[in-house]
Amino acid sequence: MASLLPPFLLLLLLPLAASSSYPYGNVSLHIDCGSDHTSADAFNTTWLSDRFFTGGSSSVVSEPLLFPSRHEQNLRSFPPPSSGKKNCYVVPGLPSGRYYLRAFTVYDDYDGRSHPPSFDASVQGTLVFSWRSPWPEDSARRGSYSDLLAFVPDPPAEVCFYSVATDSPVVGSLSLVQVDPLSYDAATVGHGFVLVNYGRLDCGPDNWGPGFTNDTDHFGRYWQSGSDFLSPDSKNNVVLLSTITTISGANQQPNYFPMKLYQTATMTREGPLYYELGVDAKTDYLLWLHFAEIDSKVSGPRQRVFDVVVNGKNLTRVDIFKEVGLLAVYDWHCIVRNLSSTTLNVTLQPVVGVPLISGLENYALVPVDLSTDPEQVVAMRALKESLGVPERMGWNGDPCAPTSWDAWEGVTCHPNKDKTSLIIYQIDLGSQGLKGYISDQINLLLNLVSLNLSSNSLRGTVPSGLGGNVLARLDLSGNQLTGSIPDSLASSNMQLLVLNDNLLEGQVPEGLFTIGVHGGSIDLSANKALCGAPSLPVCSIWENGGLSSGAKIAIGLSCAVAFIMLLLVLYIFCIRRRRNDYDFGLPHELISLAAKRNRYQRQKSLMLLEMESQHAKGLPSPFSPNYQKS
Ligand SMILES: *[C@@H]1O[C@H](CO)[C@@H](O)[C@H](O)[C@H]1NC(C)=O
Ligand SMILES: *[C@@H]1O[C@H](CO)[C@@H](O)[C@H](O)[C@H]1NC(C)=O
Ligand SMILES: *[C@@H]1O[C@H](CO)[C@@H](O)[C@H](O)[C@H]1NC(C)=O
Ligand SMILES: *[C@@H]1O[C@H](CO)[C@@H](O)[C@H](O)[C@H]1NC(C)=O
Ligand SMILES: *[C@@H]1O[C@H](CO)[C@@H](O)[C@H](O)[C@H]1NC(C)=O
Ligand SMILES: *[C@@H]1O[C@H](CO)[C@@H](O)[C@H](O)[C@H]1NC(C)=O
Ligand SMILES: *[C@@H]1O[C@H](CO)[C@@H](O)[C@H](O)[C@H]1NC(C)=O
Repeated sequence: MASLLPPFLLLLLLPLAASSSYPYGNVSLHIDCGSDHTSADAFNTTWLSDRFFTGGSSSVVSEPLLFPSRHEQNLRSFPPPSSGKKNCYVVPGLPSGRYYLRAFTVYDDYDGRSHPPSFDASVQGTLVFSWRSPWPEDSARRGSYSDLLAFVPDPPAEVCFYSVATDSPVVGSLSLVQVDPLSYDAATVGHGFVLVNYGRLDCGPDNWGPGFTNDTDHFGRYWQSGSDFLSPDSKNNVVLLSTITTISGANQQPNYFPMKLYQTATMTREGPLYYELGVDAKTDYLLWLHFAEIDSKVSGPRQRVFDVVVNGKNLTRVDIFKEVGLLAVYDWHCIVRNLSSTTLNVTLQPVVGVPLISGLENYALVPVDLSTDPEQVVAMRALKESLGVPERMGWNGDPCAPTSWDAWEGVTCHPNKDKTSLIIYQIDLGSQGLKGYISDQINLLLNLVSLNLSSNSLRGTVPSGLGGNVLARLDLSGNQLTGSIPDSLASSNMQLLVLNDNLLEGQVPEGLFTIGVHGGSIDLSANKALCGAPSLPVCSIWENGGLSSGAKIAIGLSCAVAFIMLLLVLYIFCIRRRRNDYDFGLPHELISLAAKRNRYQRQKSLMLLEMESQHAKGLPSPFSPNYQKS
């Protein structure tokens, strides 16, 4: 029976091994940030001229000759005074799926200030890299690469940069390569994580991978030589093995680990093998170990057996030959949790013979951050456009995410009730020189409680429907808004309504009076021709060339009153002519009640406390970039 197994397995594997198509899609895109022309590099990769950015300016590193690849010589920087705190690359037209993203970050004193900047970077609204000044010297001068795997469920793909302490974020190049969504055990790990590279080692002598050598890797992964990560104890105790023989099981769905990875290996002369990887203790890690028995001296099971020990914890026992035989891929992975230090020690502890390993990958499992409710994103983008929000305010990317960054300038966000997304709570854009109009998409902001657009030069009308949700404070004073006040503003939630100094006209909705009655305040002064509220003129009965409905009612009422009066007069003068003590004056109480309702005035200090409270923020850990340019 056992002899039937190998051919059967072969049949199963053949179609997979033979398929060279990428069932998950094959989109790849390389952007040479800061460059004005498209070029090809020595490895036949096309680098597109800079595009898809929201702002910033292009520069050249100070010593271009130190950089062998053209795409490393240019960079884009985002100085916050002109570009705003937050800027992005927004790549349209990509299919939704999973992507390998690689960024080249370089400073090389391009601005002559000898100050590598502090900034953060996010992917789809999740913080993934944190750069803090001063950078390691080698990174600052020669630049470094960072990469990760992320799901892009809803295109466009967005990579955003956030200035820390008024520094200018920089980026040298960006690559996006579509990868298999099932790779790296996504079925178990779930879609809720970005996998940030904290070490992808080939335990052979060389660094290799697309962009650096002519070697291929379907996902565009770069493999660093493991020698730099051996602990000092292990460095003088290792032997490198290599083969050119085919390794079965390489290059297969869904991970497409390249065969080259398994054709070299590191083995100790005696005793355990130690690797040390730098980590950030705040997240969990996905650790992936690659093995293939390429030592022809091993001819059966139980000749090379070792335990995998991570930070002192024995995780598994490995006998490569027993699992897959000779010249075949054997992968093992696990999730390492609750780290207490900034190193991840991987020890291969011999049980029989000496340990051997082909490669090792370690990814931080960065939980995907909350992002803004998609409808509200639509509304905010429409407002950005219609209000003409200036570039310096950095209204780019997701309005609220990542939660550890400030939201768009002037915007306050909160998590929604069930903590599944972020919602816009308050917009404060007073005195910003805005010259546009208020898009009626603002009505998509269902959770907006406070809106202040005062002292700008906004034209157009107050969108009808505004105030129909939970809006409680609205200040549109000091603009050039025209038209009438929409009925929707007369909502029972409204507590503060400041519309003075505009060009509004027409009848004030009757419901607005109740704001004053409920202890709120309202200011309608200095408009063009508002009418019909106490302290304002009475409305003309002619409205837009016809009788207003109010006027019609008024006329109807006055006709009725006139008729009744006539009857009364007839009664008094003709029938009861002897009685002349009838009082037509209003009772005193009624007059004073009307006077109370007349007191429309502005109170500024309402609910400031609540306004000042920033949205609650979880603080994801900052991630250092992880491999340096070699
Ligand atoms: C990507 O796939 C499509 C269809 O599957 C094919 O036409 C195209 O040539 C492929 N592109 C690359 C760069 O492999
Ligand atoms: C480089 O790309 C071009 C077109 O994309 C192709 O014709 C050529 O064979 C490629 N060269 C190598 C070495 O892959
Ligand atoms: C990669 O391959 C191309 C085409 O075969 C060749 O011109 C180039 O020199 C190679 N690059 C390296 C670094 O080997
Ligand atoms: C990792 O190993 C180094 C020495 O090889 C040791 O100093 C360090 O304490 C170890 N860290 C952990 C978390 O085991
Ligand atoms: C390490 O763990 C494996 C499996 O969990 C077990 O088989 C092995 O005996 C353990 N090694 C030691 C030294 O306890
Ligand atoms: C990690 O720590 C948490 C709480 O500190 C604990 O509940 C959990 O069991 C730990 N997990 C592991 C794998 O040790
Ligand atoms: C609106 O913002 C301006 C500052 O631009 C401020 O003076 C005013 O008090 C704000 N209005 C309200 C109602 O808070």
